[in-house]
Amino acid sequence: MINKIGIVGGGNIGGVLVSEIVNRRLARNVALVDVKPPEFAQGKCLDIAEATPVYGVDCNIRGSKGYEVLEGADFVINTAGVPRAMRPDGTFPSRDELLAINLKITDLVAAGIKKYAPNAFVISIANPLDAIVYRLFKKLKFKKNKIMGMAGVLDSARYKYFVAEAAGVSVENIEAVVLGGHGDTMVPIRSACRIYGLPVEQFVSKSKLEKIEKRTRGAGGEVVSLLGSGSAFVSPAVSALEMVEAIAWDKKKIVPVAAYLEGEYGVKGLFVGVPTLLGKDGIEKIIKIKLTPEEKKALGRSVKAVKSTCAEVDKTK
Ligand code: LAC
Repeated sequence: MINKIGIVGGGNIGGVLVSEIVNRRLARNVALVDVKPPEFAQGKCLDIAEATPVYGVDCNIRGSKGYEVLEGADFVINTAGVPRAMRPDGTFPSRDELLAINLKITDLVAAGIKKYAPNAFVISIANPLDAIVYRLFKKLKFKKNKIMGMAGVLDSARYKYFVAEAAGVSVENIEAVVLGGHGDTMVPIRSACRIYGLPVEQFVSKSKLEKIEKRTRGAGGEVVSLLGSGSAFVSPAVSALEMVEAIAWDKKKIVPVAAYLEGEYGVKGLFVGVPTLLGKDGIEKIIKIKLTPEEKKALGRSVKAVKSTCAEVDKTK
């Protein structure tokens, strides 16, 4: 069992994280930070704590406006930031449009983690994902194996779900991975998509796959436009916990993660979604996979998009 998991941001993702951690008996202590008045995080935690007799789980759950509750956390999951939400005219912002506001929040998050949980593994979910985790990394100066962004698990899960639906088979039969930035340029890797170990094209036509890949790239936005307020929260939360479990149980599991690259995949000094091996030391290895020339090109475009958002980050202190 993990001793302590800290969560920053008590919105929808934070709430699912706390209840799911309790339900899975993942940690002895769970801490939630949210600055919202009057005592929002406390309220959220009390609600979940009062459910523990029903879950049949003993867990110490603490919510606070202050970062001190993170003290000694083994993992910190960052969800703090404004989510994408539909505007009155029916449009919604891109993840990148959240940058300015969410950067300010991120700097406070980094200061809190640095002070109270300097040895934690940090998994960031807030958007624009690749830029926010980049900022956290710059501020925290943690080793690159200990800080990562959650996007690939979620984007790959969406890809898998759509493929399973189209093929009429169980989601458990699907292997699929999405690489690159967590934005409209993300790259579903068709050459690595398998159903029961067989190439996906044996089950789903090329034209259907094209539609599925397009839908995957816009899947976060599809949920935003259907919900009308806020963005997806169950799938992002459980995706982050897949990463926590891979590290905590030293699974050596290959998981797509936004990782800090120093030359791998031709990328230097940016967080980009690539397959990684997760174990007790966090990101223990970046896994290289062979891409088709088109996939390589698409990944290059996605990296370019991440680079330009991170250039915006670098313009601010
Ligand atoms: C999404 C948000 C969490 O993709 O980025 O739904």
